[in-house]
Amino acid sequence: MKILGIETSCDETGVAIYDSEQGIIGDALYSQVELHAEYGGVVPELASRDHVRKTIPLVKEVLKQANCTKDDIDAIAYTKGPGLIGALFVGVGVGRSLAYAWGIPAIGVHHMEGHLLAPMLEDDKPDFPFVALLVSGGHTLLVDVQELGQYQILGESIDDAAGEAFDKTAKIMGLGYPGGPALAKLAEKGRAGIYKLPRPMTDRPGLDFSFSGLKTAVANLYNGSDKSEQSMADIAYAFQEAVVDTIFIKCRRALEQTGHKRLVVAGGVSANVALRAKLTDLLESKGGKAYYPRPKFCTDNGAMIAYAGYCRHQAILNGQDQFEEPAVRAK
Ligand code: KG4
Ligand code: ZN
Repeated sequence: MKILGIETSCDETGVAIYDSEQGIIGDALYSQVELHAEYGGVVPELASRDHVRKTIPLVKEVLKQANCTKDDIDAIAYTKGPGLIGALFVGVGVGRSLAYAWGIPAIGVHHMEGHLLAPMLEDDKPDFPFVALLVSGGHTLLVDVQELGQYQILGESIDDAAGEAFDKTAKIMGLGYPGGPALAKLAEKGRAGIYKLPRPMTDRPGLDFSFSGLKTAVANLYNGSDKSEQSMADIAYAFQEAVVDTIFIKCRRALEQTGHKRLVVAGGVSANVALRAKLTDLLESKGGKAYYPRPKFCTDNGAMIAYAGYCRHQAILNGQDQFEEPAVRAK
């Protein structure tokens, strides 16, 4: 079975084909980073227009990569949300129209389920059950995953998401857009112990997060600093350390609460090297294991949507779920 996946929820147009026998056989991504860089963040209207330009060419490209024609595709999965509404409309419109024209099912996929399942595309994939930490630009979630589709949210951010905190802090420090990777890179040159920032909400019980206070704390540090390269790196280090420590404490708590020995980490911030190192150590110390997608599948991509669409399609075939729209059925 071959599923074409389309992702257009934010500023990346991602298209891929997942084959149930061979895995990902076509994968193309177009990033709009340059388009939005001069505005210091994603401009939704520009994002939608660019998805319109790029989605169909990428569909053609992945069909070519996979050596397929439209007749080889069994279903189309598209991101149905959450995301920028105009951007989502492009993927939904293209996905459902192609499915209608090709006479195959269209499957709407939840963007965060796409992220959650992305580590399943690796050779070393996690078995169920596990705790999932989803850390992206829009969400910070701890989820108890019992089975495919059985998700219980254990905790989430009550304000900024982890990636959003990276991006906003980077903006305060003049690091441009996208800020997360730039701030992480600067932190590599920072020294431990120079600045100390709070670990928000770790001194009270529960698994919710709050990151908005950290950016204010960084703004104060930054405004009072000499803004030299070393001071900037030290501030970046302190910020990253505070985010990573906070996430570490909450993950440890979630693992203790659920008794699970596996932690799946996904979403854009799961590309962060310091976070990976700390969580990998945590799981090793507990005799368990942490699982991550390869770096290019941490951030938004079509492959995770194609794979999640395949899983949804299987659930539908097994009678555990149903197609959203009655009009489009199998060939
Ligand atoms: O999952 P994603 O591509 O989009 C959303 O669904 O939001 O995540 C993007 C987020 C951005 O906030 C970006 O700054 C952050 O992931 N990010 C990072 C790193 N790479 C991407 N944050 C920290 N360190 C990184 N290496
Ligand atoms: Zn995402």
